[in-house]
Amino acid sequence: MVEKWEDNYFLLGPYFEKKASSEFEQIHDLDDSPAGRIVKRMREMGFSVYYGYWLVTGKPRVVLFDLDSIMGQLDAIKFNLWEKNRIPTINVEHLVNQTLCFGELVRIFLKEYADENAKREEIFAQFHEWMASSGLPELKRENVKIATTFTTHATMLGRYLAQNVSGFYNKLPFFDWEQEAKNYGIMAQCAVERQAALNAHVLTTVSDVTARECEVFLGRMPDLVTPNGLNVVRFQAVHEFQNLHLKHKERIHEFVMGHFFPSYSFDLDKTLYFFTSGRYEYSNKGYDLTLEALARLNWKMVQANMDMTVVMFIVTKQPYMSVNPDVLQSRAVLNELQETCTAIEKEVGEKLFLATASGTDHKMPDLNDFVDEYWRLRLRRTIQSWKTDKLPAFVTHDLKQEDGITDFCKRANLVNNERDRVKIVYHPDFIASTNPLFGLDYGQFVRGCHLGVFPSYYEPWGYTPLECVVRGVPTVTSDLSGFGDYIMQIMRDYENRGIYVINRKSQTFSQAADQLADILFKFVRMQRRDRIMQRNRVENISDVFDWMNLRSYYDTAHDLAAKRRKP
Ligand code: UDP
Ligand code: G6P
Repeated sequence: MVEKWEDNYFLLGPYFEKKASSEFEQIHDLDDSPAGRIVKRMREMGFSVYYGYWLVTGKPRVVLFDLDSIMGQLDAIKFNLWEKNRIPTINVEHLVNQTLCFGELVRIFLKEYADENAKREEIFAQFHEWMASSGLPELKRENVKIATTFTTHATMLGRYLAQNVSGFYNKLPFFDWEQEAKNYGIMAQCAVERQAALNAHVLTTVSDVTARECEVFLGRMPDLVTPNGLNVVRFQAVHEFQNLHLKHKERIHEFVMGHFFPSYSFDLDKTLYFFTSGRYEYSNKGYDLTLEALARLNWKMVQANMDMTVVMFIVTKQPYMSVNPDVLQSRAVLNELQETCTAIEKEVGEKLFLATASGTDHKMPDLNDFVDEYWRLRLRRTIQSWKTDKLPAFVTHDLKQEDGITDFCKRANLVNNERDRVKIVYHPDFIASTNPLFGLDYGQFVRGCHLGVFPSYYEPWGYTPLECVVRGVPTVTSDLSGFGDYIMQIMRDYENRGIYVINRKSQTFSQAADQLADILFKFVRMQRRDRIMQRNRVENISDVFDWMNLRSYYDTAHDLAAKRRKP
């Protein structure tokens, strides 16, 4: 976008001091740019407005509004929303109040901007999500000369209903939005979303899957689907991303050694790392299906007497007290073991070299003689505190309460017994490089794994499988996710390229679990050579999802909005 619009592109957002301190660079001397002039005017009106650069790729200009500077007018804002646009907002939570303040500041900014510039140039405003859009209907009502596009990345009601009503997709055409919004206590959010969708010149959403929801819940069919992309950075040489896989896999090996080997060991060279990740929406994210398929996979592998091991990481966010002390302890002992071994290695090496260089009897020296008492003892002590009779924990943290994942693992007895070929590591927190267990950031962790598993039931788009693809990691998705639906439309041989799409549209839960278990079973029987080639094929798809290519969908939406504004 910056490349296309240059200085005429800027983003509007809320100001949060803590975030701004690391991601925002303020322009102190307001330049005489159109945006700079409006910022000045809004400050004169008494609002606290920041203007500068957002420190992400492209370094776009950004205008940030301090929401507190308009909070005093909240009642009037709410009155107007009801009076003029029939949006009810009484008794809403603080977050919704904040979005209403933000929406109003956006409206004021755009109105001022249009008053000053609309005669000279076409102005486009792109709204993302209801949280940015409570001011949009009023812009339309007042006939402000701006071509508006509203993009919804999900629908409020879709997320709630898919999670709570079984057979959601069959019932979809028959839901009454107003009734359901009242049921879930989200009338304000739904009304803002709906009015923004109805009043924008152009409505878009991220997938055909969500387009169907728009029709029912927002009362308007989207004009266009605008799929999600990434800023894809590819290496010059193919082997570089393969090397990264190996490098980060070594770190995961370390965690696995520390976590499992005190109880029992297995061959790391014959171990595969699968993972799933995302917010904790047990059935929406398909965690239920993934676990069921893993239990079936485990059974298949045990039956087939396989010597492979699968370690499944489940990465999500759930309330916890702390990292499980046993898990931390074995991690620490592993480090101690490694240090002691390195010290002994160095000592033996030096003494062996000296002994052989200076020896005269041509005999092979006894290496044990080279380890002094101190290190011998230290190693023995470490070995003793290393071994345990307990099974390796299948949750890395002490959870505040049991949840669907722990319930399932206990019920299915998938609790890291030695004979099981599928091991579970449930990590109820997102991964960050400061994390004591992995020491990897999320992207590195993804690279180190062999397969991402995301057979979602409700997923308007779903970035997680796409993030696997651009890192050259094969992935499972579903035909109910926007990403899966899109890949099926644009590519015929996606499965051969390492994107597996689970059919959740027309299969029962159990059939889908079987399909997933079969795919996973096939995957564990692949040879290393095949895995390497498959990683190459999946990484090769990356460019398709580069914003360089997908920006055009947004360009089309904006052009259409301009045409509609002045037919
Ligand atoms: N994610 C992360 N750290 C983690 C796990 C996930 O940053 O440890 C991110 C992931 O990179 C992805 C996002 O969480 O961008 C989830 O987005 P997705 O579109 O898959 O699901 P949504 O949140 O929209 O339901
Ligand atoms: C990358 C590395 C290879 C390594 C392989 C392991 O391709 O470049 O040197 O052998 O990863 O693959 P695997 O699927 O077994 O982790």
